[in-house]
Formats: sequence, C-alpha cells, structure tokens
Amino acid sequence: MTVGDQTETARRVLVLNGPNLGRLGKREPSVYGTATYADLTVTCRQVGRELGFDVEVRQTEYEGELITWIHEACDNTIPVVLNAGAFTHYSYAVMDAVKMRTAPLVEVHLSNISAREDFRHQSVITGAATGIIAGFGLHSYVLALHAIAAQIAESAQREPLTVRPMANTVGEPTATGPDAREPDVL
Ligand code: DQA
Repeated sequence: MTVGDQTETARRVLVLNGPNLGRLGKREPSVYGTATYADLTVTCRQVGRELGFDVEVRQTEYEGELITWIHEACDNTIPVVLNAGAFTHYSYAVMDAVKMRTAPLVEVHLSNISAREDFRHQSVITGAATGIIAGFGLHSYVLALHAIAAQIAESAQREPLTVRPMANTVGEPTATGPDAREPDVL
C-alpha cells in the first residue's frame, strides 16, 4: 500500500478518539490512568514532531463524526491512530470506514481490552486496521506513532526506482518524437 505524497512538508497524521476519551484523567483512573486528554494531545504532538509528523488530535462523542474524519483520512492518504472507544466493540459502520483506508491505520487502546470484560475482547476494527496496540496507557499512542513511522519508512524503501534516460551523447538520436519512451521502472 502506498502512503501518499506528502514528503515536502511534515506528513499529517490524525489521532482520532471516540466517546468518553475527552474525559481522561477524571474517567475511571484505576483503569485509564490519571493523564488527561490534554496530556494525550501534548504527548502525541510532541512525539509526532520528533518523527517528522504534523499530528492533529481530535475527539468526538459521535459515531458519524468519527466516520467522517476517517473518510477525510482515506481521501487524503493520511495515516491514522484510532481509539474508537466503545465503538471498537460493535460499530460495523466504523469498521466499514476503516476498510477504506489508504494509509496505515493503527488501532490503539489505553487499557488491555483482552484482559477486561468479555464484551471488550472483541474488536470489529482490528481486522481492517494495520495493527493494534493496547494496554500501555498513553504510551499506546506513542508506540502507534512509531509504528506508523516504521510503516512509512518501509513503504518508501519499496517504492520503485525510476531510471531516467541518459543524457544524449553526440551522434545519437534524441529521445523526442513518436519513438520517445517513458523511463523504465525497475
Ligand atoms: C478503550 C477501551 C474501550 O473498551 C472503552 O470503551 C474505551 C476506552 C481504551 O482505550 O482502553 O472507551 O478504547
């Protein structure tokens, strides 16, 4: 999968958060920790800068808004870190949006969803995502940003090399006119 053509400026990355994640810090600190949503935003933006990304962190309580943001990422080949909150476990609409991704999308969770209540063991999103990172608190997001950087570096290595035609030497026909050919691609 290609990851778009955003090499000139810092590559945009969207960190998208679903319902109740804006309440981090106040919300069940024994499960989700004491770091706030503001802490999450600062951490993601800072780690993103270190990796050469322009990270935008968003949060919504609404499924449709989350889906619209995923569409935006799909249309613009923007990598995504996605914590869909409880939508993770039952939203086929979010899953269908993730299936349209055109760049790496890493599912993240603060908590280890496999070690919690049964209904949290299933994610309908994982199968459509690049991968999943769960259980490391805010660090799940840090790991996800690093995973995206690794994916981008790997796909850049796989990009085909373009062999340009050699400069014309005296006496040889020029590469113009109906016989001119596109450069070969290795
Ligand atoms: C969560 C886990 C979900 O089960 C829960 O509904 C959330 C947060 C997490 O980050 O651990 O809202 O996605």
